[in-house]
Amino acid sequence: MWWFVVPKAVFGDDAVQHLQNERAERVLIVTDKSLKELGYVDEVKKHIKAEKIEVFDDVEPEPSIETAVRCAKVARDVDAQLIIALGGGSVMDVGKMARILMELDIDPELVTPFTDLYELGFQKKAKLIAIPTTSGTGADATWAMVLTDTKEKRKVLPANREAIPDLTILDYRFVEKMPPKLVAGTGMDALTHAIEGAVAPWKNDFSDAMCEKAIEIILENLEKSYKGDVEARAKMHHAATMAGMGFGNSQVGVVHSLGHAFGAYFKVHHGICVGVFLPYVLQYYINDEGSKKLLDYLAVKAGLKDAESLVDRIFEIMKNTDLPTKVSEIVGEKEYFDALEEVVNHAINDACIITSPRCPGTEEVRKLYEYAFYGKKVDF
Ligand SMILES: [Fe+2]
Repeated sequence: MWWFVVPKAVFGDDAVQHLQNERAERVLIVTDKSLKELGYVDEVKKHIKAEKIEVFDDVEPEPSIETAVRCAKVARDVDAQLIIALGGGSVMDVGKMARILMELDIDPELVTPFTDLYELGFQKKAKLIAIPTTSGTGADATWAMVLTDTKEKRKVLPANREAIPDLTILDYRFVEKMPPKLVAGTGMDALTHAIEGAVAPWKNDFSDAMCEKAIEIILENLEKSYKGDVEARAKMHHAATMAGMGFGNSQVGVVHSLGHAFGAYFKVHHGICVGVFLPYVLQYYINDEGSKKLLDYLAVKAGLKDAESLVDRIFEIMKNTDLPTKVSEIVGEKEYFDALEEVVNHAINDACIITSPRCPGTEEVRKLYEYAFYGKKVDF
């Protein structure tokens, strides 16, 4: 038995106006300080008809478990009927967890795909609406969350189908002012989700439909969006959520394992991390007959010749959006290789490593890191 779980989506110019139709008297907006300063909270508030609107703007990048717990307390105090997560992936993840914790006093790590929240007393009292302000994480459309255990300096990855937002609002005004660097980084994250989701062992007809279309849209629009093309920016906003709907119902793979471990150690933006490893991992897949077939199929679907031309196209996009095409453009050689043992160890223990069409062992992971550093074509 398989599930395909996605939120409803309202999209287009003025999509945020939909909030006028929501019948909630007590609303909590979850966001961060910079988005509040940009005036986005006021923009959202304009469309809410409610007696009480509370704002929790304390979400930090790579949010901690404590932040989610504090946010849940505010939600409980307000007795929120509607939680609006306005922001990027961090905000979404805190919003998702806060909706659960406002009703259940449990350790967030106990929120797993196998936990029956309703048996524990969860009644889903609050509706959760996502309004993404970046076009990449797909967190508005997935049921996983990434939080940080600050005491033990590690990431925790709670996930439960009931965590998924009920609705995502894709209104382009919230991505209009995205800095180009963020457009490029988050766009590569979306592309990685779409490709990894389309080759993961748990892929299915429903996830394929989302991932394949997302790949096509991103290959066509990322560079244009980077240069400020408004229509392309809107298309990218759709594609990021579609990729989320896709990989959220299959999985991501080795690119994310390498990216997670590298990013956590060197504190590099997630999109940059996965982007820089993507073409090298795809080369590694191409050297495996079964995986190459999958990539050939995706490439042809997207109007390209074969898997190799997909890799070439990705390098081209990275150059055209001023992204690093090898890791040596991000960190120094000594610093990198001094840390490599630890980074390899984290990557090999990352859950995404097993949800790949070709699973590397420790030695291959080390070599992938090495090849990606020097920009060498992967020949194993
Ligand atoms: Fe990602």
